[in-house]
Amino acid sequence: MLAYSTYSEAGGVGKTTTAANLAVAHARAGLRPLVVPLDPQDGDLSRLFGVDTDRTESVDNLVRHMIRRPSGDFDDLVRTVEGVDIIPEHNMLSDLAEYLQREKDQAEAMGEAFGMHAQLLRVLREAGVPDKYDVLICDPPATEGPHLYNAIHATRSLIIPVEPSAKGRAAVEGLESLVAGLEDQLDVEVGVLAAVPIGFKNTRDQRTILDEIDYPIPEVIGERASLMEGCWMQQCSAFEYVREHRDRQREYEIETLAQFDRIARHIEQQGGIEAPNPPEPGDLEHEVLSV
Ligand SMILES: Nc1ncnc2c1ncn2[C@@H]1O[C@H](COP(=O)(O)OP(=O)(O)O)[C@@H](O)[C@H]1O
Ligand SMILES: [Mg+2]
Repeated sequence: MLAYSTYSEAGGVGKTTTAANLAVAHARAGLRPLVVPLDPQDGDLSRLFGVDTDRTESVDNLVRHMIRRPSGDFDDLVRTVEGVDIIPEHNMLSDLAEYLQREKDQAEAMGEAFGMHAQLLRVLREAGVPDKYDVLICDPPATEGPHLYNAIHATRSLIIPVEPSAKGRAAVEGLESLVAGLEDQLDVEVGVLAAVPIGFKNTRDQRTILDEIDYPIPEVIGERASLMEGCWMQQCSAFEYVREHRDRQREYEIETLAQFDRIARHIEQQGGIEAPNPPEPGDLEHEVLSV
């Protein structure tokens, strides 16, 4: 199973947009993706895909499973949208640190070990996710903490959306030491599959910034505020938005879809998997064969 988290040091760079559209790009190529968003804030991936319905405490959710108090089957947590399986975010994610700490204290009082950052991995393994899915994508919040650490522990690889600005440049400069810090802290090796510049306007400064990035850059995504805003409005991927909600197809938007397709192929190759039915990049007529 190919597994990665979208990561950037800052919020609002395009982590969620990237995770959502890459998931759809994997799915339309015939792979089975599972998306695990972990952002406790509103405006998260569950919202984007319209699966953020029931967040009340009584509802079974991922956090319950992570603290070994599930109130249902893992498979019942999963919702399917646009060929993508998603475990919707839940309000309990806001207090994930406290829940994990309490469970750890209790476990230790009983003489047991409880790895606070290894619980997502445990839950996914116990549910047979590595056998059932081809791709696992986590979308944690940017801030350091148990959401990010659990995501990285479970995926070990990163896709890094980059804002091609002076601010984004600072973030990229700090990245290598940050990845090294995460590796030390979690005692795992973390690989970077790709950096994805988002909102590129092709200024000279931006070109300089991209030149300085040492990670593979399979594609550079342009300024697509209107397309992405439309996705949040209609609660769908950019693929679905252009296909279903645009009255006419704009060539530059089709090209952006093609870019997500190509990034997905790049990542699959890096992860050693091959999509059984890859579309012509950006082809909206592509027939998705059921898997
Ligand atoms: N290529 C793009 N051009 C312009 N705006 C974009 C682009 N991709 C995403 N956005 C917008 O940027 C904002 C932040 O994106 P989001 O994916 O939610 O970031 P994050 O998850 O890192 O906080 C959203 O309003 C989204 O619509
Ligand atoms: Mg986000």
